[in-house]
Amino acid sequence: TVRREGTEEGALSVGGVPVTRLAEEFGTPAYFLDEEDFRARCRDWRSAFGEGADVFYAGKAFLSRAVVRWLHEEGLNLDVCSGGELLTALDAGMPAARIAFHGNNKTAAEIERAVAAGVGRIVVDSFQELVRVAHTAQALGRVQRVQIRVTVGVEAHTHEFIATAHEDQKFGLALAGGQAAEAVRRALTLDGIELVGIHSHIGSQIFDMAGFEVSARRVVGLLAEIRDEHGVELPEIDLGGGLGIAYTSDDDPREPHEIAKALGDIVTRECESAGLAVPRISVEPGRAIVGPTAFTLYEVGTIKPLEGLRTYVSVDGGMSDNIRTALYDAEYSVALASRTSDAAPMLVRVVGKHCESGDIVVRDAFLPADLAPGDLLAVPATGAYCRSMASNYNHALRPPVVAVRDGQARVVVRRETEEDLLRLDVG
Ligand code: LLP
Repeated sequence: TVRREGTEEGALSVGGVPVTRLAEEFGTPAYFLDEEDFRARCRDWRSAFGEGADVFYAGKAFLSRAVVRWLHEEGLNLDVCSGGELLTALDAGMPAARIAFHGNNKTAAEIERAVAAGVGRIVVDSFQELVRVAHTAQALGRVQRVQIRVTVGVEAHTHEFIATAHEDQKFGLALAGGQAAEAVRRALTLDGIELVGIHSHIGSQIFDMAGFEVSARRVVGLLAEIRDEHGVELPEIDLGGGLGIAYTSDDDPREPHEIAKALGDIVTRECESAGLAVPRISVEPGRAIVGPTAFTLYEVGTIKPLEGLRTYVSVDGGMSDNIRTALYDAEYSVALASRTSDAAPMLVRVVGKHCESGDIVVRDAFLPADLAPGDLLAVPATGAYCRSMASNYNHALRPPVVAVRDGQARVVVRRETEEDLLRLDVG
């Protein structure tokens, strides 16, 4: 979707618009998102899973009103994990019934808003929350559909901070030791809630299908136990998100149809052998949908060669618009975007403008040796967990998100202004 064509100096273009024009019109740093690519990925996931399954986009990766409308139009559901995400989803017209509400410590106000709005399901993460949701629903005269989030005990091969299904972490109720089974027992006796399924999310940026398969097997195993103990067959399982994307050419991501087939096959086989009806499967991809659809455009400010080491290239953003390198040691690539160059490659580290030496955008990369201040750099695959984790560190103004489609670019999240900064400071 990003091409080097149609422009005189060989600038990259996205959705038919050269980055030089985008930078002029919208400034830098900025995120540019290819709307058609986003929609195509939504359709890929929908068609891979088919009518018998549901795809919930994980809004934490990146959410805005425009994104909600695209999801709605492309037939996806939405997973939210805070009152703010829920507000955005409802405000942009996502039918509440197509929203799932997550989180390990939803507040009373969030639970009330979710139940009152009629969200399709609340994914319950603790014993206390089970009771809170039940009481809130009773008080509102509702019956809330819930799933119980379980921890299946899989060690996903990803960064420690984004792995979620091993035992020693905060999410879910463990299958091992019977916590999950106990939660099911209680859920089945509480008024105000209807237990419809079991949820498992094993982590994020995962390439190996084995973890998903083990998770699916264990979740079906729990369904069989529930049937044996209570005579109830729960109709749904959600196997979470987590499918990895390519940040650099070393990454080799699986396609939606591969994961759909693998999960479908395992669930069907396990259900057959347990004598269970096959439940409705859902998944919650975030990164795999939005991650590859956007890139960040920066302008080079200073260039500092360190003899015998590398050249530090400072851009006009940094850890405030992409915390992932500092936080997870994430790897990104970078390209000279405003022109082509035949100059020899030089080893660079692309850093931001923040007062912190860990403020690194791209740890190791090669850029042409004739790189100069004013050149534009593009860092691809920043659609997920970059704008959504952006901060005002050093009173940075968070960059805009600009959607590009058919030669047209429009701001979907505007750049923060100095007035925005000062407005919050009421002292
Ligand atoms: N479902 C649940 C319950 C989740 O907790 C998450 C991600 C997802 C779905 C979506 O996962 P995805 O398909 O996007 O991998 N900030 C980290 C990622 C944290 C993910 C948290 N939960 C990062 O920048 O890598």
